Amino acid sequence: MSLTLTVKNLQELTAGIRLIELVEQQGRNLPDYTAGAHINIETGEPGTRSYSLINWSEPEKSPTCYFIAVQREDGGGGGSKYMHRLTPGQNLVAAEPENDFELLNHSAPAVLIAGGIGVTPIISMAATLQDQGRPYHCHYTGRSRSLMALANDMEKHFAQSLSLYTDDESPIDLDALIKDCDPESHLYLCGPNGMLEAVRTAAIAAGFTREQIHIELFTTAPAQSDDQPFEVELKSTGQVFVIPVGKTIIDVLEAEGVDLIFDCQRGDCGICQTDVLSGIPDHRDLVLSGDERENGKIMQICVSRAKSARLVLDI
Ligand code: FES
Repeated sequence: MSLTLTVKNLQELTAGIRLIELVEQQGRNLPDYTAGAHINIETGEPGTRSYSLINWSEPEKSPTCYFIAVQREDGGGGGSKYMHRLTPGQNLVAAEPENDFELLNHSAPAVLIAGGIGVTPIISMAATLQDQGRPYHCHYTGRSRSLMALANDMEKHFAQSLSLYTDDESPIDLDALIKDCDPESHLYLCGPNGMLEAVRTAAIAAGFTREQIHIELFTTAPAQSDDQPFEVELKSTGQVFVIPVGKTIIDVLEAEGVDLIFDCQRGDCGICQTDVLSGIPDHRDLVLSGDERENGKIMQICVSRAKSARLVLDI
């Protein structure tokens, strides 16, 4: 069911990140959610944009408001710019909260690692773990302290269970961090692709299983400087579409009226997975295993591109 939400308050947290308080348009209570949940908001772009819900204590039942933080992506699509143009009183259409990044019910410590705006679900997880009296430690890294949204509030709330890092003064050492973790720990990661890959690689090398590593992406894979246009042929109709640099397969096919199933558009939910009948995909997702990437028979069409001039997809 969709929700109509009204912007109640806005607060600029850093030069490019704003905190948005949303309430139900008629003043009704909002649907429950759990730490790690997000809402999908319509921003006028194809699909929706996902924003994690922020809470500073275990989420209450029937909340009266939702808090999200939005980073403006000047080089991205228009979704974040739309969110940065919002003014108090404006209405938004959103879906009810979903959670693909649940805190599991384990007694082992939780190690929470956030990079940049990826801190939003991590705050909610730390707050919930703290309220439940469970062992956790939160690591938050950013380019510099002035760019790290909510770092001061986190120091107040999580005190001894928080470590802050900045690229310019105190860079995070992910290998050392992973080596210091209890081997039974569960790792919860949210941040840019490069950081997630680095943590995941270090954790697997240190003996952590995939079941102990939980990941939420908060941005799409960035465009690469050597990206090239390529063609996509649909098996069902034989139609061929050109996917230009800066557009995804989903962007182009949706605009042409092709019916697709997708959700996150960030390469981490797996919903848009599509069979590749010929051609070589250029995988940019966080879903597929090494073997699946190597085989090249499936791909996530929300983020991945092509290494060959044409892909034939089972669409
Ligand atoms: S829509 Fe989520 S992986 Fe593509």
